[in-house]
Amino acid sequence: MTGKNALSDLALFGGKPLFSQVKSIGQLAQPNQARFFALARKCFAERRLSNNGPMVQLLERRLADFHRVPCCIAYANAGLALIALIQSIAAGRTGSVVIPTFTYAGLPHIVRWAGQEPLFCDVDRDTHTLTAETASAAMAADTIMLLGVHQANSPCPIDELEALCRARGITLLFDSVHGLGATYAGTPIGGFGRAEVFSLHATKLLNGFEGGYITTHDENLADLLRRKRNFGFTGESSIDTLGMNAKLNELHAASALAALDDLPALIERNRSRIEAYRESFADIPGISWIPYATENKTNHEFPLLQIAPDWPLARDTLVSILRAEGALARPYYAPPLHLQDNPSHAPLPVAEALSGQIVQMPAGESLSRDDIDTLAALVDFAYIHAESISSALAAAGTSR
Ligand SMILES: Cc1ncc(COP(=O)(O)O)c(C=O)c1O
Repeated sequence: MTGKNALSDLALFGGKPLFSQVKSIGQLAQPNQARFFALARKCFAERRLSNNGPMVQLLERRLADFHRVPCCIAYANAGLALIALIQSIAAGRTGSVVIPTFTYAGLPHIVRWAGQEPLFCDVDRDTHTLTAETASAAMAADTIMLLGVHQANSPCPIDELEALCRARGITLLFDSVHGLGATYAGTPIGGFGRAEVFSLHATKLLNGFEGGYITTHDENLADLLRRKRNFGFTGESSIDTLGMNAKLNELHAASALAALDDLPALIERNRSRIEAYRESFADIPGISWIPYATENKTNHEFPLLQIAPDWPLARDTLVSILRAEGALARPYYAPPLHLQDNPSHAPLPVAEALSGQIVQMPAGESLSRDDIDTLAALVDFAYIHAESISSALAAAGTSR
């Protein structure tokens, strides 16, 4: 099925790649095009392309309903939304923000752009999220906030984080970029902590090309965040807070609007793709799949392949084999953030172990059932020929 019979057929050793069009790890979900172009034509007809126009306002109302919160504030992307949110909560104070070490590599930069210092904490072995225990171990006297990050496979343990933050008198925020469509104890992610932040990037579940938004129950915070995304303007010319241009434009809002109704079906297709991975790879020894929480709804965004410690090839060699074939798998959250930030940081052992084991496999709408079967046949070929692959790499001066 892969057409790979000899080692030299592997693209890593000069063979023809399996996929002429690369297989991404992103969702690459297409918004309903008829609906998108109808909305886009309206934007042009009304000459409203930015500046808090009708599309952004409609999107904010629809997302507030979806997340069952009173306030939604659209931003140009999740990164700027997080910066504005952290800066708003800090309210002139300079201190630290506790974040998990096993997450998106941009997060420490976001905290620093907001004028704060990130403190890294370990995560739970099964959910991959921070916990009250790991977060409190990282807290310092100057900690102002805890920024929980929901994982695709599990939301954070919200109740215990709320109790911890109440006891410490600090603010709880969530980066919910991978929690869209998930629930916690039956309530949609989006209504927890002081505020939560989501992304509308084209690789995420809700495709606005680029974009992001904040959900909150706090009307005053929402007002402040609306001013901050528009240079801090209160009226025509007066400015009362540090602001920037972080407005979502109308066409990107139209794209997200055209995609919103398809979200449940997309999550269902994600679930089926992970099921297909499990079936196709079932006979390959030493392969398992990170389970998705069953007590809470999740979005099944990422197929996460875990290889046994005694697998005959290193995780990163398997990733190199896949990538050479055009399957853009990658090591999942490796290296962990505390080691990227400071190689002599005190150990955070769970995240360090996890970051050596997991492959984030191709995902999303550009991946067919046939592609998944092809990937399984390729990984099986790598498993069977592991010894000769290792020898060839050693001969070429590359580690196994
Ligand atoms: C956990 C997390 N937070 C924040 C972001 C930033 O989102 P955006 O690209 O919308 O700025 C990402 C992007 O991948 C992410 O994975």
